[in-house]
Amino acid sequence: MPLAQIIGTGSYAPAQVLTNRDLEKIVDTSDAWITERTGIRERRKAAPGEATSDMAVAAARKALEMAGTRPEELDLIVVGTITPDMPMPSCAVLVQAKLGAKKAFAFDVAAACAGSVYALSVADQFMRTGQAKRALVIGADLFTSVLNWKDRNTCVLFGDGAGAMVLAPAEEEGRGILSTRLRTDGTLADILTIPAGGSKEPLTEEILREQRHKVSMNGREVFKTAVRELTAITHEALQAHGLKPNQVDHVIAHQANLRILEAVLQRVEIPIEKCWINLDKYGNTSAASVPIALDEVNRAGKLKRGDLIAMMAVGAGMTWGSAVVRW
Ligand code: UT7
Repeated sequence: MPLAQIIGTGSYAPAQVLTNRDLEKIVDTSDAWITERTGIRERRKAAPGEATSDMAVAAARKALEMAGTRPEELDLIVVGTITPDMPMPSCAVLVQAKLGAKKAFAFDVAAACAGSVYALSVADQFMRTGQAKRALVIGADLFTSVLNWKDRNTCVLFGDGAGAMVLAPAEEEGRGILSTRLRTDGTLADILTIPAGGSKEPLTEEILREQRHKVSMNGREVFKTAVRELTAITHEALQAHGLKPNQVDHVIAHQANLRILEAVLQRVEIPIEKCWINLDKYGNTSAASVPIALDEVNRAGKLKRGDLIAMMAVGAGMTWGSAVVRW
């Protein structure tokens, strides 16, 4: 069975830009603090009425166009998201309907900021068994909908967006998704969480007042876990293929904080110049960040046939994962 190859990429970011200066008017923060501590300068915010599935479809159409694939040819749609349009049904079924991908079975994967790497890995398994021959993988999050705009610890970090990848059987041996790795540590569930509004604590007026249906985070703990685990999983992924860090051509990493990326890449001995960085423009777009970065590198013409790409992402859970791709 040939490996699965990414034959099309697409991305979408809403038009409205929220700069650090805009946030200075909302919470007690400063452009200098946000830029120095995170590298983020601005982020996008979805328009009123714009939903996660709308962003996902916009990214998917671009990826399908690049792949020369019609929606009806898709066997599978996996959407990584924790901000679906509604609790039920999944975002993926709405995407399936909007695209008219009649043949595709569709479902969401909830792994927060690691969502697109999780979704890619899941789709890769279906491709490897032959159960799917064309798959659409999307990472999409409308994260501004779950932010507490009074909490400066979180509201300055995130933005909205979507990215998509189309998978098909590789035409050449040795090209495609060489491997994916997924890891979870549920004992860290409480360091990055939307604590209420689910089955444990259904919405009440008190929860709404206290904003416990919005994201809360212990940033320092998330930071430490992100650096430790992204370093370990990237080492492991390269070792599994007998690859040295200098053989990596591109790093496509989740964009949460420039300092996290610098720390990880220093530890895995890959120059930061090999990592596409766009968090200055979009902030942390959660599951969307890896496929948006991949699409930008791709459309910039930087990916050459045979290039080696190391992908990595980490998110609430904690969840993290990596993918090694031969382009
Ligand atoms: O995708 C995964 C999701 N999340 C992440 O990856 C986030 C990981 N964590 C981080 O990126 C960093 O921990 C943050 C950017 C969230 C925070 O940076 P930090 O260097 O860890 O700062 P800190 O939390 O240790 O806070 C330092 C100070 C505190 O003030 P005191 O206690 O020293 O007086 C905070 O209250 O900075 C304060 N602070 C702010 N000041 C201005 C926290 N947020 C802000 C803010 N503006 N927005």
